[in-house]
Amino acid sequence: MRNRWIISDNSLQIKDLLKNESIFNVANGYLGVRGNFEEGYPESYPTIRGTYINAFYEKVSIAYGEKAYGFPETMQKIVNVIDSQTVNIMIDGEKFSLFDGTIKSFNRFLDMDKGFYKREIWWVSPKGKELKMEITRLASLKYLELYAINYRIEKVNFDGDVTIESVINGDVSNYTDANDPRVAAGHSHILSVSCVNEDKNILQLTAKTQTSKEAVVVTTKHQCNEEESVSYEKDEKSVKAIIKTKLGKEVIEFTKYNVYTDSRRYENPKQSGREILEKLSLYSFEDLLKEQENYLKEFWKIADISIEGDEKLQQGIRFNLYELLQAVGKDSISNISAKGLSGEGYEGHYFWDTEIYILPFFTLCYPQLAKQLLKYRYTTLDYARKRAKELGHKKGAAYPWRTIIGEECSSYFPAGTAQYHINGDIAYSYIQYFLATGDMEFIKEFGAEVVFETARIWLEIGHFHKGRFRIDAVTGPDEYTAIVNNNYYTNVLAKYNLKWAAKLYELLKEKEGNLLRKLCERIQLSEEEIQAFDEAAKAMYLPYDENLKINAQDDTFLKKAVWNFKDTPKDKYPLLLNYHPLTIYRYQVLKQADTVLAHFLVEDEADFNTIKNSYDYYEKITTHDSSLSCAAYSIMASKIGYAEKAYEYFIETSRLDLDDTHGNTKDGVHTANMGGTWMAIVYGFAGLRIKEDYISLDPKLPAMWKELVFRFLYRGAEIKVHMRKDCTEVSVRSKVPVRLKIKEVEYNPVGDWQVLIKNDEA
Ligand code: BGC
Repeated sequence: MRNRWIISDNSLQIKDLLKNESIFNVANGYLGVRGNFEEGYPESYPTIRGTYINAFYEKVSIAYGEKAYGFPETMQKIVNVIDSQTVNIMIDGEKFSLFDGTIKSFNRFLDMDKGFYKREIWWVSPKGKELKMEITRLASLKYLELYAINYRIEKVNFDGDVTIESVINGDVSNYTDANDPRVAAGHSHILSVSCVNEDKNILQLTAKTQTSKEAVVVTTKHQCNEEESVSYEKDEKSVKAIIKTKLGKEVIEFTKYNVYTDSRRYENPKQSGREILEKLSLYSFEDLLKEQENYLKEFWKIADISIEGDEKLQQGIRFNLYELLQAVGKDSISNISAKGLSGEGYEGHYFWDTEIYILPFFTLCYPQLAKQLLKYRYTTLDYARKRAKELGHKKGAAYPWRTIIGEECSSYFPAGTAQYHINGDIAYSYIQYFLATGDMEFIKEFGAEVVFETARIWLEIGHFHKGRFRIDAVTGPDEYTAIVNNNYYTNVLAKYNLKWAAKLYELLKEKEGNLLRKLCERIQLSEEEIQAFDEAAKAMYLPYDENLKINAQDDTFLKKAVWNFKDTPKDKYPLLLNYHPLTIYRYQVLKQADTVLAHFLVEDEADFNTIKNSYDYYEKITTHDSSLSCAAYSIMASKIGYAEKAYEYFIETSRLDLDDTHGNTKDGVHTANMGGTWMAIVYGFAGLRIKEDYISLDPKLPAMWKELVFRFLYRGAEIKVHMRKDCTEVSVRSKVPVRLKIKEVEYNPVGDWQVLIKNDEA
């Protein structure tokens, strides 16, 4: 059973190393380090040697050929910060490398239950000296600034010299690839080292970004049980400790404590770095491991999903959830980037991925962290207000399509800024959080303002025409169709946003009159505006095609020619890397779920037949070139009753990074898809929906599985769902009665682990 918690891979092939740098990243939401080898690879091998701090960024200018009004002039990008990974092991002048001498055994693995990554090596040097080594790393989940590496070195057939050379290096650069729009094309040299220090066994290196003027500091200390002498060397970009160990057969234990501090969180990151290090280096590496395990025990208590019947999928699910925990920002200036802290794809930007694909997991399993993610959008509300003005709107907040600090970073507006649906997505996630937790305090303090300000934008960009409210010139989630009128997804989400703005207003008016008055004064929101929200919501135009009996993706989509899939060779996918956008825009072809996703998010807007017909129609013309697609199709296939399809799409999501099915895991893991895996199980196979005042389940266990167990939190209750072949057992622990429907039958459990059993008569 242990291997269900372990990810291992022993390949030393060039083609696998880059991918594994992402897979074996260690991160804690603040700090992330890629799974590079401490001692490096041979010079000629490609590598992305990276360490990242969530929300630590540089501002770079955007070069346009033809710049138009309102285009963002600069953008933010994640910075590959100071490298503290390097440790070289030397024996009598021979330097250890997995690519020299003889490897008697090599194994590397990530332990998701205990929270560390380890390499186990038995190496024979070219001159015949043998070492057994265990190299373990962790990014502490409890002490976010700490990244620690531990070496256990056994001299097998000699008792001579072993020297440990430990380096802090500020001479780092970001990764670029001019031919892949999903990766940065330029700006690789960002950091300049401003200070290198060695003082009382503490190494400290400070580096700064040029434009954003942010500083990052690494403060490092070593502990070695067999230390004979230590010396230090430094130049203008790096500092190194050289530790000579005692002669003899003893096992060498060496720990490197690296503390990262930055100017976005600390007023004086140098001083704070020292203070934090002094405190944390008192813990033994074993203590730190224990803390990791304790933290994870709490996390898995609710988050874990176990399935009986497929080991590889089980491993995939746990990996995806573990990665989400590693990626999630734990303060209100950070969020979850598209690649977490595992790589530089999409330049560390936060997208709608968070709200639609990742927040559901945190909302139902870890609401404290969901709150943090939601707060991030509140923190950046002023930037969104400013952006709304730049876009020509009088009122409201227009959230950026991609960003780090809250300013728009998208330079290609047809597939960027035009995706106004992000406003609806953000409002939706606040409402879902509210419905799932009942946390009125949060809505009062943060949520209402965000929902009001986002709703305002729909009145700005929409208009009434023949009694219907229409929204023109937007792009929906499907980025292979751009700048359209009345994208169904956008309109449905806008309707939800507007409807809830009016509802929250009424709710607050009834319960929190004073607070509402103050808020309305501050943001100058009038009763007339609220009424206008309500009217626009009620009159929202939702495109429907009478012939096909489906929701049309937008006003013109169904009039276009269908893409010639038959004659498109496999190697032309993803289309975005092989065709000019205009070619793609001319056809009915989808990058990812659009209307089908809308039918999941706001399912009560369409009847079952429309949902089914739409699924059948759009599925045939969807490429799934975006990793955000399969999860949505899996959920909806489950709903419609296409069990096999639901399962196939689910498989695609669950091992997407472990098996590198999109071929770009080297740039980082796909966090939205990882949240999608959880959704495909909980919303798909278990059919969970958060309704306005109850939660519903419609369980359908995949035929290959014997059982599925998952847990979630709902309005203070802890709920465990155990799906078996012929029945579903739901156990509930709650102080107050909760409303729950299982296959349309209502229950109101209360107390300590009340068990409800619903036999499957189907
Ligand atoms: C998708 C977007 C997504 C972005 C970041 C793109 O390929 O089309 O929907 O937000 O990737 O994950």
